[in-house]
Amino acid sequence: MEIKGSTNVVALIGHPVEHSFSPPMHNAAFNDLKMDYVYTAFDVSPNDLENAIKGAQALSIKGFNVTIPHKIEVMKYLSEIDEVAGLIGAVNTIDFKNLKGYNTDGIGAIRAIEEVTKVKNKNIVIAGAGGASRAISFYLAKYSADNITILNRNVEKADNLANDILKSNLIDDVKSDTISKVNDYLTDADILINTTPVGMHPNVDVDPIVSAEGMHEDLVVFDAVYNPNETVLLKEAIKAGAKPVYGIKMLLYQGAESFEIWTGKKAPVDVMENALTRTFGL
Ligand code: ATR
Repeated sequence: MEIKGSTNVVALIGHPVEHSFSPPMHNAAFNDLKMDYVYTAFDVSPNDLENAIKGAQALSIKGFNVTIPHKIEVMKYLSEIDEVAGLIGAVNTIDFKNLKGYNTDGIGAIRAIEEVTKVKNKNIVIAGAGGASRAISFYLAKYSADNITILNRNVEKADNLANDILKSNLIDDVKSDTISKVNDYLTDADILINTTPVGMHPNVDVDPIVSAEGMHEDLVVFDAVYNPNETVLLKEAIKAGAKPVYGIKMLLYQGAESFEIWTGKKAPVDVMENALTRTFGL
């Protein structure tokens, strides 16, 4: 990659950012398409967020990815918010052409799952009711899942998220319950999505949210946890003969969606995936 006077800049902002996998993934894509772009990362403290957005406009930066802790706060400084991002209430992508915010996390998960099965008309169980669950479940609703059941340790949080989704009028069948009842809901489920950190490095050998005995062969199991690549939940899925979807795919496709927003070009997904797996040492 040759950086020149004409090179366009896109970047990740967050706090911290130094362990991000996005720079190698996006730079591999720019290289592959011979685009005059570079992707870097800026550590921005919460007090500097507004200045960072104004500064980026002044510097003609083309796009940002936004990560923790700025995904919600940053919305105040944008001119436009994509409709689903507005419902989710968080933004992970900014296009400086129109100072518009998007959320590609949820669509990233949908594209990952849809490598294996469509979400349309499916019965879907989602574990967790935090930010990731919120992003994914609004997109499940948008892409016409038949029904969504949100299961969480703190049931009130699951109830609140379910109510928010119902209010969007994108879907009319959303339930919520305690995660301890996951086995009851899986009998009729087509897709299980884990958005909790259970099984995440360094606690990789914990009990999964559900074991193989609770799964069936036709189930698709997506784990948003990507470190380790094959989580304890995905190991159980494989044992049950169910189809695993790896968390790294969500990372890949949220990146591909952001790339497409900034550049208007189709993302070279294979090249981005190779860069990601190389970075992970897989
Ligand atoms: P994220 O942005 O990744 O979704 P988050 O907003 O902090 O992170 O949400 C984490 C989710 O994982 C929550 O739903 C949390 O459940 P509670 O609301 O009951 O805290 C869930 N979670 C975290 N640790 C968990 C555990 N050990 N077992 C089950 N659920 C867990």
